[in-house]
Amino acid sequence: MGTPFIAHLEPTALEWERGLPPDEQPNAASIPRTFLDAMTVRTQVFVQEQQVPQSNEFDADDQRCAHWVIYASVNKTVAPAVTDPATGEVLRPRQSETQSVPIGTVRLVPFPHPPHPVKGGVYVDNELVGSSSSDSAEDNNNNNNNNKTTTEPPAAEPTTTQQRTFTPDRPTTFHDGVEPYVKLGRLAVVKEFRGRGIAGQLVRTATEWMRTHGTYFDPSPAARGFEHLGMEQTAGALPPRWNGLLCCHAQESAVRAWEKCGFRVDEGMGRWLEEGIPHVGMFLRVDVEPQARAL
Ligand SMILES: CC(C)(COP(=O)(O)OP(=O)(O)OC[C@H]1O[C@@H](n2cnc3c(N)ncnc32)[C@H](O)[C@@H]1OP(=O)(O)O)[C@@H](O)C(=O)NCCC(=O)NCCS
Repeated sequence: MGTPFIAHLEPTALEWERGLPPDEQPNAASIPRTFLDAMTVRTQVFVQEQQVPQSNEFDADDQRCAHWVIYASVNKTVAPAVTDPATGEVLRPRQSETQSVPIGTVRLVPFPHPPHPVKGGVYVDNELVGSSSSDSAEDNNNNNNNNKTTTEPPAAEPTTTQQRTFTPDRPTTFHDGVEPYVKLGRLAVVKEFRGRGIAGQLVRTATEWMRTHGTYFDPSPAARGFEHLGMEQTAGALPPRWNGLLCCHAQESAVRAWEKCGFRVDEGMGRWLEEGIPHVGMFLRVDVEPQARAL
């Protein structure tokens, strides 16, 4: 494998048909190559390997996310060797060329977010559809001030991101329920390239970009209006500002990979199922680049 390189895509309007894989998208010509490649990796890893329905893989957040895709240079056969069937002599050698193939991806979701998942909740396509009994029991046994609201279902997930509002959330171990945070997610590396630090490169690249673009997602009510941003205008109210907090909903089997990048498990968030896969919440705080703050 040659030296990998990483492509970055800022939030972009995407005409995506949810039920179709990337190579069957009817509007592929208008979809940025980086996003098609991100979806190629996500389809291989989440849909084909982890059995998540194709229609649940793309979601309304993808259009407002920043995306990163990492590529490897791979030598591929474009024409097999031709041999003489009688003598076995090679008439034409194998022809190969070096191609860049997408091998990993991650996305960064800006605030506002839906409420933190319910402990023991069962989520399908971002919707709470039930609860798993063992984790709900854990909730009841640990019913302290921090999680007293966790058995109440959150407001229904809006179907479009435009409907998201800045609403106070339940406090957890690392989140006071109010501070704006960005969320890394859809971290995936194709099987043959795992265990070589690829996920670490992606997470660190996304984190560093956010750290050095700290105001990128800060809303500007002066420019866009409080109502449009889903904020209530009250006297003295300050618009939300990102102050270095990142979150992820980690598959339990991937906790180690996130820990290697500095994320810590948020015990107060508990455990829940997304698409049948056990998840926990994790947080990381970084120092926002002062220059980014001054802009
Ligand atoms: C999780 C995943 C992205 C990690 O990718 P990767 O490129 O292999 O990760 P890295 O090589 O950067 O590994 C970072 C660390 O995590 C560990 N790790 C990675 N995946 C692991 C796993 N499934 N189980 C246990 N440890 C794992 C690595 O051993 C490494 O630790 P080490 O340096 O101490 O050995 C990849 O396994 C994957 O795509 N899995 C399927 C999809 C998935 O679970 N995505 C995460 C959603 S939250």
